[in-house]
Amino acid sequence: MPANLTSDTAGALSIVPVTTATLPAWLGALNPHERDWLKTTAFVADPGSFAFLPARDGKEARVIAGISPSESVWAYAGFPASLPEGKYRIDSPLDRNAATDAAQGWALGSYAFTRYKAAKRAFATLVWPPEADRAEVERVTRGVFLARDLINTPAEDMGPDELAAAARELARDAGATCTVIRGDDLLRANYPTIHAVGRASSRPPSLIDIRWGDPSAPKVTLVGKGVCFDSGGLDLKPAAMMLNMKKDMGGGAVVLGLASALMSAGAPIRLRVLVPAVENAVSSNSIRPRDIVRTRSGKTVEIGNTDAEGRLILCDALTEADTEAPALIVDCATLTGAARIALGPELQALFCNDDAVAEGLLHAGVAAGDPLWRMPLWQPYRRLIDSKVADFNNVSDAGYAGAVIAAVYLAEFVGAATPWAHIDMFGFNAKDRPGRPEGGEATGLRAVYRYLRERFG
Ligand code: BES
Ligand code: MN
Ligand code: ZN
Repeated sequence: MPANLTSDTAGALSIVPVTTATLPAWLGALNPHERDWLKTTAFVADPGSFAFLPARDGKEARVIAGISPSESVWAYAGFPASLPEGKYRIDSPLDRNAATDAAQGWALGSYAFTRYKAAKRAFATLVWPPEADRAEVERVTRGVFLARDLINTPAEDMGPDELAAAARELARDAGATCTVIRGDDLLRANYPTIHAVGRASSRPPSLIDIRWGDPSAPKVTLVGKGVCFDSGGLDLKPAAMMLNMKKDMGGGAVVLGLASALMSAGAPIRLRVLVPAVENAVSSNSIRPRDIVRTRSGKTVEIGNTDAEGRLILCDALTEADTEAPALIVDCATLTGAARIALGPELQALFCNDDAVAEGLLHAGVAAGDPLWRMPLWQPYRRLIDSKVADFNNVSDAGYAGAVIAAVYLAEFVGAATPWAHIDMFGFNAKDRPGRPEGGEATGLRAVYRYLRERFG
């Protein structure tokens, strides 16, 4: 949680929010000096822009800020980085939702990844809007920052063991239990695909398993793809495709951040978090094309491509998740490039076998400013992963619908009666946007969090 939200109002400069719609009336109420001054600054209330009005005629100095009311959570999110260092307060009556959104955006916009290099400047400080739900902003921000830090940390310092250590620390702080099945123990515990994908790395694979909450409460199980680096394996990625693959544990990071927020909220659920954590590496013991693995479910999978490793590690985790017949399984995974080609970086692909859950998630995503877009679990494409020698192949050679086919593969491991949502996510901001600095991003976290709180409390 950033330290630049404060309850100390002393010396704070007022921010006066103005939209392009309210600007004319607002200008009309100024004195001619102020109007002339604003004219020289060319302020037209573009969202994210601001202008200073100096103190004059006994009036205090103010900042006039352009905001877009439709941006809800993001309306104020650019200001911590764009306004000069100093303390500000929002000079406008905000109801509880608006105040919480404004503070949430400010907090999310006050992130810098400083593990290897100090930040260039401090963020501007905001006085908590009086109506804001501070505890909620704090726990959501902690969850998002945890996920961003985990994703941003280079693979050298964020291997399977380091991801497991982060999970253990989270569990300890929240009073949850955390077990980690590691290395060859994965074979003894019957997680063959996690072992097969991760065995080639000098850093052993593991399955992270966190449990928390009242055992009699509705069971929610989160599953996150934890590929700490995806070289592609023997089907090696070209350099440009490999460049950002430290983020391939983004799904794991998101479910850990989400768990952090849910546990600190004391959500009335029995939470389980499963993160298969591996490095998809090249070595003489790498899994090979045309190898066949018997998965935890007993079904066999032919390896058509070692770069389709996410669905392999997820399938054993999903099989385990399904054994408890939870009220809901949500998995988050940087699973396919195809989802990005379909939707770009700003929308996360949602696949869901339950229409009511899908509706709820889509709605929550829009409300949270963390949008998802539904894609089909189109069963007719199941034939595209038929294999002559195994129950299925891990890839198709169709050359289309890659995100759909990956989701249809995962669906083989979830019982038809278990409500299940799969989010094929990006985990990254390709460019700076207000509140979303370039780099690791907890895409989907706040959408799922909001849905779960709305549904379970
Ligand atoms: N981690 C990648 C998917 C990915 C690539 C996500 C780029 C975000 C940006 C995944 O493991 C992968 O390599 N998928 C392959 C699947 C293919 C071999 C069927 C892909 O999408 O190309
Ligand atoms: Mn891959
Ligand atoms: Zn991957």
